[in-house]
Amino acid sequence: MLKLGVLISGGGTNLQAIIDNIENGNINGKIVLIVSNRKEAYGLERGKKAGIESLYINPKDFNSHQEYNLHLIKEFKDRNVDLIVLAGYLKILSPEFIKEFKNRIINIHPSLIPSFCGDGFYGERVHKAVLDYGCKITGATVHFVDEGTDTGPIILQKCVEVAEDETVQSLQKKVLEIEHKILVEAVKLFCDKRISIKGRHVKILKED
Ligand code: GRF
Repeated sequence: MLKLGVLISGGGTNLQAIIDNIENGNINGKIVLIVSNRKEAYGLERGKKAGIESLYINPKDFNSHQEYNLHLIKEFKDRNVDLIVLAGYLKILSPEFIKEFKNRIINIHPSLIPSFCGDGFYGERVHKAVLDYGCKITGATVHFVDEGTDTGPIILQKCVEVAEDETVQSLQKKVLEIEHKILVEAVKLFCDKRISIKGRHVKILKED
């Protein structure tokens, strides 16, 4: 059974979706550590309620971004983590972290990458940009994390229609439901060893 490490910064509804799908047997994995860079992240409460080791690690306790990331690497390696899931984690990972866990870090982004992603595109800003542009569809993307921001190989995407009377809040709610679905599916596929990657191209392998 693969060991999962989850990085969060906020409410943790994506984390909760993973917890729920491990508990109901859909995901054949085990979350062994949750880390938040923000003390008030409700996701830490979600982890504790599920009996999962959940740590607030303050980046300000380290002399640099690099040292903070080296500490995160140690925390995950000490627990033999196989897959790192960024579930609403709002900090950039260091090159050392990316190298250490190459093709073993996945992120959920609330748009159809490569649209509305990259620096400055997070949370409500993404949905506001989609509405301002006048898009008719949007969605969510799960991708491997590489050295760029939201630039890694795409694993799964799913789209939703943008209604005429859509607001930022209604769209965020719609997309978040999609996020939960495809993040859970991606973690499940990874745990079942059904994701193969060649360069930028990710293939989902058929069930045995
Ligand atoms: C979601 O909008 C997700 O797309 C983005 O950060 C937010 C996290 O939500 N990565 P939650 O903390 O999982 O509820």
